[in-house]
Amino acid sequence: MLKRFSISLEEDLLETFDTSIGLRQYSNRSEAIRDLIRKSFVLEEWAADEEVIGVISLIYDHHQRQLQEKLTELQHDFYQQILSSTHIHVDHDNCLEVVIVRGRAQQVRELSDSISSQRGVKHANLSMSSTGQRLR
Ligand code: NI
Repeated sequence: MLKRFSISLEEDLLETFDTSIGLRQYSNRSEAIRDLIRKSFVLEEWAADEEVIGVISLIYDHHQRQLQEKLTELQHDFYQQILSSTHIHVDHDNCLEVVIVRGRAQQVRELSDSISSQRGVKHANLSMSSTGQRLR
């Protein structure tokens, strides 16, 4: 059931907000505010070490000695948290790997940090999402 409430905002802040949500294709303020609230819940889930879903993506140099072995070893250490992983050969030198993880926030971060800190990993990114259970 939808509930209606009103918000008081400084005019400048509201104008900036409207511009910002317009640029991001929101058709109305309500949907933009709902998303902001959900986003804050997701941050809370991560801060409270709850069960979360994340996507780790990494670009690495496949000529780097032992790197592929190390990445496989790490993924076996965290096999209970890994739902899926995909490997793409980007070009002659670079590989892209995408690892979908589900587990306690701390464990997911630990895996992500262990991956990003390997020599030969050129870029790694942890996208922090949610199981969606607390989000309506
Ligand atoms: Ni490859």
